[in-house]
Amino acid sequence: MGKQGNNSAGKDNTKERKVRNRKQKEATRGKHYYANTHDFRNESHPLPAEFTDKIICGDSRLVLKQLPDNCIDLIFTSPPYNFGLDYEDTEDAFAWDAYFKMLFSIFDECIRILKYGGRIIVNVQPLFSDYIPTHHLISQYFMRKKLIWKGEILWEKNHYNCKYTAWGSWKSPSSPYLKYTWEFLEIFCKGSLKKSGDAKNADIDAESFKTWVTAKWTLAPERQMHKFKHPAMFPEELAERVLKLFSFRGDIILDPFVGTGTTCLSALKNQRRFLGIDISPEYCRTAEDRLRILPIFRESPILDEDS
Ligand SMILES: C[S@@+](CC[C@H](N)C(=O)[O-])C[C@H]1O[C@@H](n2cnc3c(N)ncnc32)[C@H](O)[C@@H]1O
Repeated sequence: MGKQGNNSAGKDNTKERKVRNRKQKEATRGKHYYANTHDFRNESHPLPAEFTDKIICGDSRLVLKQLPDNCIDLIFTSPPYNFGLDYEDTEDAFAWDAYFKMLFSIFDECIRILKYGGRIIVNVQPLFSDYIPTHHLISQYFMRKKLIWKGEILWEKNHYNCKYTAWGSWKSPSSPYLKYTWEFLEIFCKGSLKKSGDAKNADIDAESFKTWVTAKWTLAPERQMHKFKHPAMFPEELAERVLKLFSFRGDIILDPFVGTGTTCLSALKNQRRFLGIDISPEYCRTAEDRLRILPIFRESPILDEDS
């Protein structure tokens, strides 16, 4: 390297490479070819009042079936990862095929109830010790279902949970164990990459937008898991970034694995409507308690009728 940004031949390698006939080449390749033959309908239905701004205790496999098609703008969730964690009311240690069957039956419903142009964003950490690339399998599932992969955010947690050392193959190539300090957020769109919404209901400021579109987010993990008695919460800031970058004020946000209600808390604070579902009565109570302390909870409409 010579001058900063120059390669050994002295050429500036910080500039974007020019592609000749870019548009024509793009047309030849075919954008998101795997998703172009979908039959999603470009129509929306209202979310019934009994599901609006609610935490519902139940199995998402059953609860979601009660919702109309195309009624949700954005789904943000972190499913149980099948790590063997101690949740209140579920075993987190299924055989892998049973786990994916459960997960995909819930995601089937999520796709059905998502509006055209709506997004589903799944926070997931593969179980590296079982050599199961959960994030790839989930992504393949959504692509098979004709959703468009919008991208992936790498959530860097700063070496949290990275104590494991590969003593079994220390300094040996026999089977070094790779360590990860991050999780993934996989982002999928139904029907269109563009989401409709009124520009005056976009609430992300310029600085945040510039920072957050760089798809590596460094954020500390949630520190209050002990207090809320839940082993796998994500931090409120993660939900807030997702909501502000990918949804408008007034949008309807769903989390079908809502745990202690973090997604809904962020939705409420940021003037979105919400529905949160969890199978555990204990976690649902915690979620409601977290929401109830906010003065805005159920006191007034989240948005004025004309906004
Ligand atoms: C990773 S945690 C989500 C934590 C949440 N993001 C938070 O910040 O509190 C996954 C949740 O899924 C719930 N769960 C597992 N199976 C479920 C099902 N079939 N339907 C609804 N919730 C389920 C568990 O009780 C657990 O709280």
